[in-house]
Amino acid sequence: MKKISIIGAGNTGATAAHWLAERELADVVLLDVVEGMPQGKSLDMLEAMPIIGKDTHVIGTNDYADTKNSDIIIITAGIARKPGMSRDDLLKTNADIVGKAAMETLKHSPNAIFIVLTNPLDTMAYLTMKMTKLPRERVIGQAGILDSARMRAFVAMETGVSVENINCYVLGGHGDEMVPLTRHSNIAGIPLKEYLPADKLEAIVNRTRKGGGEIVNLLKTGSAYYAPSMACVQMAEAILKDKKLIVPCATMMQGEYGLNDMYFGVPVVLGAGGMERVVEYKFDADEKAMFEKSAASVKETHEALKGLVTF
Ligand code: APR
Repeated sequence: MKKISIIGAGNTGATAAHWLAERELADVVLLDVVEGMPQGKSLDMLEAMPIIGKDTHVIGTNDYADTKNSDIIIITAGIARKPGMSRDDLLKTNADIVGKAAMETLKHSPNAIFIVLTNPLDTMAYLTMKMTKLPRERVIGQAGILDSARMRAFVAMETGVSVENINCYVLGGHGDEMVPLTRHSNIAGIPLKEYLPADKLEAIVNRTRKGGGEIVNLLKTGSAYYAPSMACVQMAEAILKDKKLIVPCATMMQGEYGLNDMYFGVPVVLGAGGMERVVEYKFDADEKAMFEKSAASVKETHEALKGLVTF
């Protein structure tokens, strides 16, 4: 069985473990700084396996040695912004947490592929690549699958059509400036712009951009975790099964789309090698403008990180 270690056994990490275990995709190690919690959640999950007839092993730990020889490392460890904390404070705190998680796991799993979820995730993925000095193929940020899934869910709600018929592509940074590509999105091949009236489509695009905030406002004590964790499970599955799945993910830009030295959400091919290839769309002027605006905002966070951390 393949092995996936998840760093951070909070809502996102534990739910990712749950989805993975249920699919018998890999044995799972859940690691957290909190003592007992990852052990308790893992034991509980393990005890569910006989009921669904799956032989997935799930263990919880506080010791990085238990992550040894993982095929994939998923990083969800971090904290949410607390009252009085600036964005830079959050950036620094999460950079310390993610940097340590990346280096500790790399020590025990030198061949692993990293999937980063901790926010601000484009920048945390950049940090992970810079610190580990791994090739970009092996450090991938989650986000595009989640943002696209949110848009697909909203289109399904509006149209009453199966989510399976709905294809949406959201690129760019994982923030309000994200880039929902309505021209490339479709229902059973029919462009969204033809299927839906302009005002309805605009409302869906706006709701997608604010999708994360909508959940935070409802939950009040945390952020979304079911869809984010499922998105990273799809990434892990594509890698483990060498599917060559094209999905939007945050990846290190090396000249594609005119961008360099930053993580950004673009369509990539996921397979056994990790992020195997960037796929380039041809943009019209509006799309290009949205893309550039989002890139500028992500670049700003990268620059802030460079002021706080030395790689
Ligand atoms: N090492 C390991 N785990 C840590 C560390 C650390 N240094 N610091 C914090 N953690 C753990 C916390 O103990 C907690 O269990 O990370 C976990 C984070 O879980 P939650 O607070 O439940 O947050 P969650 O909703 O899972 O989100 C985690 O993913 O989607 C992003 O924006 C989200 O950045 C956030 C991250």
